[in-house]
Amino acid sequence: MVKLVGDNRVRAFTKVLFDRLGAAVALVVLSPIIGATAVSIRLSMGAPVVFHQVRAGHDGVPFTILKFRTMEMRAASCCGRPETCRGIQMAPGATIPRFARFVRRTGLDERYVREWLEQQAVTGILAADGSEDARGRRYTLPAGHREVLVDELSLAHMTPFVRAIVGSMRMLPGIMEAFADGGGVAWADYGDDLREGQAAGNRPQFHHLMADWLGQVPDVHARLSAPGARIADVACGEGWSTIAIARAYPNARVDGIDLDEPAIEQARRNATDTEVADRVAFHARDAADPALQGAFDLVTVFEAVHDMSQPVAVLGAARRLLAPGGTLIVMDERVAEQFTAPGDDVERFMYGFSVLVCLPNSLAETPSVGTGTAMRPDTLRGYAQDAGFSGVTVLAIEHPSFRFYRLDP
Ligand SMILES: C[S@@+](CC[C@H](N)C(=O)[O-])C[C@H]1O[C@@H](n2cnc3c(N)ncnc32)[C@H](O)[C@@H]1O
Repeated sequence: MVKLVGDNRVRAFTKVLFDRLGAAVALVVLSPIIGATAVSIRLSMGAPVVFHQVRAGHDGVPFTILKFRTMEMRAASCCGRPETCRGIQMAPGATIPRFARFVRRTGLDERYVREWLEQQAVTGILAADGSEDARGRRYTLPAGHREVLVDELSLAHMTPFVRAIVGSMRMLPGIMEAFADGGGVAWADYGDDLREGQAAGNRPQFHHLMADWLGQVPDVHARLSAPGARIADVACGEGWSTIAIARAYPNARVDGIDLDEPAIEQARRNATDTEVADRVAFHARDAADPALQGAFDLVTVFEAVHDMSQPVAVLGAARRLLAPGGTLIVMDERVAEQFTAPGDDVERFMYGFSVLVCLPNSLAETPSVGTGTAMRPDTLRGYAQDAGFSGVTVLAIEHPSFRFYRLDP
């Protein structure tokens, strides 16, 4: 018994020694980063650089930590009760400086993360090890959940859709205004979450299926396989479709065109360091611009015609971009031929996005036809005819949520 207590003391002493020595070494090694962070906060937000926060430690014993400041100090005390203040709070109307945003992104508060882990475990998304010690408990992500949540190239990856919903919800006040006055909300105004959610949601589809899709259109496949083939990918967003076409056709050059500058900048970054970097180019342009020129074997428009304020103008410009014998392929939503209520899962999903994103987005410009996400095949046939195409064929490419159309000049 005595020996055990002695052993414990030795162990505790060794641990304290090890922790303190380790912390001292880490402080010395990380001091350039800590110093640079402190200087940057001082320059961007002034003093103080750090603030104290009291936290509950082992066995609930309170301890004080020093944290880098990333928000403006609140001028008044917390609800007039300074004893309830826990560190620094956001002053009303204050913005978080850019550098501070970076600091905040790279660190997480333990208490919040613990609550989130518990929430994820009770909903069955994470598995918990059954320990009663809330701080020592270990959580794991089951293999099947990993694919859906974090494997960004898996066809089962769902996280981007959640991000897109968050991005659309952010614009709810603007959408409500648009409902009242008939205006719209521009795609660019929805910001990063929607744009990146959309791009990341379609990325695995393009990555795994593009070669198969285009391979099912024999004459187009033959033409794109020949040396010197040229493709224009209209409304390419962040460029994953453009990159996938270039990967499928090593002899081809592919130009991605999109109105949205941040999307085009990201598309350029996405292509950097890929094997197709020297065969893709991205252009921030309005695809309806009659000045666009080219002689392309194929023009593609993936999941975007229904978003356009003037689809006939864009399809007309796309027709003029085609070389003799060239083809336009449109991929859009596989909604029913006609409105039917109640609708299937695809219709429900698409109408949700229509109300929150696609319709307000297309109505942000005037004039606008205001298509909405549930673009029926007959609607596209009408646009194609008005743009001068001689025929529209629905291609026999199977997909649960997308339909493919071939438009011949
Ligand atoms: C729903 S996103 C689809 C993006 C991409 N094709 C994808 O599948 O991820 C619609 C895209 O259409 C683009 N767009 C809409 N009207 C356009 C126009 N007139 N010219 C070029 N791009 C346009 C938007 O900027 C947006 O990137």
